[in-house]
Amino acid sequence: EVTVTSLKALANFPIGVAVPESLLTDTAHQDVVIQHFSQLTSENDMKMDAMHPSETTFNFAKADALLSFAEANNLTVHGHVLVWHNQIPDWMRNFSGDTNAWVAMMENHVTTIATKYAGRLETWDVVNEAFNEDGSYRGSAAGDDSVWYTNIGESFIPKAFTAARAADPDVDLYYNDYNLIWNSDKLDGVIQMVNDMQADGVPIDGIGFQSHITVNSPDISTIKAQMQKVVDIRPKIKLKITELDVRMNNEGDAALTTFTAARAEVQKQYYFDIVEAYLDIVPEDQRGGITVWGTNDGGSWLQYFPVPTVEWPLLFNDDFTPKPSLQGFADALEAA
Ligand code: XIL
Repeated sequence: EVTVTSLKALANFPIGVAVPESLLTDTAHQDVVIQHFSQLTSENDMKMDAMHPSETTFNFAKADALLSFAEANNLTVHGHVLVWHNQIPDWMRNFSGDTNAWVAMMENHVTTIATKYAGRLETWDVVNEAFNEDGSYRGSAAGDDSVWYTNIGESFIPKAFTAARAADPDVDLYYNDYNLIWNSDKLDGVIQMVNDMQADGVPIDGIGFQSHITVNSPDISTIKAQMQKVVDIRPKIKLKITELDVRMNNEGDAALTTFTAARAEVQKQYYFDIVEAYLDIVPEDQRGGITVWGTNDGGSWLQYFPVPTVEWPLLFNDDFTPKPSLQGFADALEAA
């Protein structure tokens, strides 16, 4: 039995959830979000393609609506995302110009959006997924894909952070990526970049561990070691779990067709262990928060990524009733 009355009430740091545009017309979904979470991330509507459909046109309508909903219901907002190689509009992918023109184009995007929402966001993912698994920059090896690296070089990252800070002096600026929760080569590359940025006086306030993971993998000792590396960065920055979900199948596999009570208990324990690890390793002043990537299982992107499959990765069932995983998350907060 799940007895959690409010997840967010158990924490003094942001407890977030990624939400689709449909939240705004789905009151059952809204009720759960308002009851349990203190922060929202837009799942898709603040990405480059959504916000900047043509070179001379910005589309703020969806982000505005989500922000209004958040402000009306006492939720903060984590901005996702200013610069990413994925989900960019075609005009950007096909942009032609020299390095300076690419820099100006990228900075215009960052400056326009960060200025528009200045003072209203808690945090921004300034750059997303700029590293390869071996710790090198995405785009630096044959076959990699990043228009930003290809056309600007690695300086696109400090340039994006500098532009974001100039536009919004108070928002916390994050570098966000997947597999940082277990891949030490990749995290080492990111930390080297952070060290370089700090040495150069470029603003960066935190690292986001996306944390799209499979139940019981990575193991908790690995997760703690990765968290510790971020905690040890000097000057101190924050660590945020930005996109947590716990799939039951291995990635690319669709073997399981049912979510048994036994599997739910295993997932509950793993959610407990992850939240406990975060509380154990990350000091209060370095906690950027924990965000789950979706509310109910049926709404999870893992239903179609990387292959269509039935998945149960989140804290609520399809009908928004709570799962044991919610209890596991809450139990860890309460035990701290
Ligand atoms: C995903 C969304 O959840 C999907 O709806 C969309 O089709 C693809 O993008 N890393 C990120 C997120 O930073 O933006 C991605 O979100 C999931 C992986």
